[in-house]
Formats: sequence, C-alpha cells, structure tokens
Amino acid sequence: VRHAVTTNLKDIIRTISDYPRPGIEFRDITTLLGDARAFRRAIDELVQPWAGTKIDKVAGIEARGFILGGAVAHQLSAGFVPIRKKGKLPHTTVRIAYSLEYGVDEMEMHQDAVRPGERVILVDDLIATGGTATAAAKLLRQIGADVVAACFVIDLPDLGGAVKLRAMDVPVGTLIEFA
Ligand code: PRP
Ligand code: ADE
Repeated sequence: VRHAVTTNLKDIIRTISDYPRPGIEFRDITTLLGDARAFRRAIDELVQPWAGTKIDKVAGIEARGFILGGAVAHQLSAGFVPIRKKGKLPHTTVRIAYSLEYGVDEMEMHQDAVRPGERVILVDDLIATGGTATAAAKLLRQIGADVVAACFVIDLPDLGGAVKLRAMDVPVGTLIEFA
C-alpha cells in the first residue's frame, strides 16, 4: 500500500495554535524543511510547471521564502532576489507598506535587482491574506519585472490571498491548502 511508504506533504507541516497571536493557527514548515525527502518533493513540485521555460530570477520573500526560493532558483538556473523587511538591504531600494494576517510591516528590494522585462517568479512558503505577496508583486512591477507567477507551498484559501493575486493578473501555484 502506497500509504505505508509515502507521507503527504500536508501531514508533515506542524500546526501551532495561538502563535504569534491568539486565534492564529500557525502553519510551521520547519518540519517539512527538516525532512530530506519532503523538502526535495516540495521544491520539485514548485519548480515542475516552469521546467524548461526561461525564468531570469526568483524573488523570495523574507524569511521563509528565502529558503524555498533559493532552492527553486538553483533548480531553474535562475538568479535569486531577496525581498526583505525594511532596513536590511544596503543599496538603493524601493519600499512598500503592507498588512498581513497578524500585523503590518514594510518590505523592500534593491532597485536594480531586476532589469526591465526580466521574467520573475515570486516564491514564499504561504499565502494567507495576500498582503505580503501582492505588495511584493507591486514592488517587482515597479522596477519593471514581468511577474510570471507566484508560487507557495501553502494556501489558506479562506483568507483570499490567491484570489487577490490573480485579480492583479499574477498566476498562482500552490501545493497544499488548509481551509
Ligand atoms: C508569513 C508568511 C508570508 C506571510 C503571508 O510571513 O511567510 O510571508 O506571512 O501572510 P499574508 O498572505 O497574510 O500577507 P511573516 O510575515 O510571518 O514573516 P517571516 O517569514 O519573516 O516569519
Ligand atoms: N502567515 C500568515 N498567516 C500564517 C499562518 N497561519 N501560518 C504561518 N504563516 C502565516
């Protein structure tokens, strides 16, 4: 029976209640990252739709998007662009404020991180309200990127983030849903 040897990606994600705020069910991917086969499978599944296509850059969102995005970029032979919380990048940046499931923040990227017209995939671990990812897509477009898609391991569909991204004409790929 396949079940005896195959663990679903969903089963390897740990849920922590009331973190970082009361009422939040936090989906913790460190258990997935720590499992060699699950980590490889997640990266393979994220990359699969883009294998053989020309992707210039992968943009990863701090912090968990760095881990996944770095691996995706390597596998696609693309460059990597960090989208960071404010104040962390040393060169000239573009910056945007955004809200997320449990707070508000500001993110930025280097103004010269992408050349106009370059094909970019945005990567993060999870999309909830979409505040983070829509802000990241806006920043990328502001510096001229062609945002080809946004890819996430986890979608929280009840929070509507994927719908918001698609409404701004960013195709969305996700591997797992927690409804
Ligand atoms: C989490 C997650 C996404 C974002 C999704 O990051 O990794 O980036 O929230 O939420 P949203 O769709 O409602 O915007 P977090 O802000 O907790 O930062 P971290 O990765 O640095 O812990
Ligand atoms: N980012 C926003 N909502 C989240 C959640 N429920 N679990 C993990 N990361 C998140």
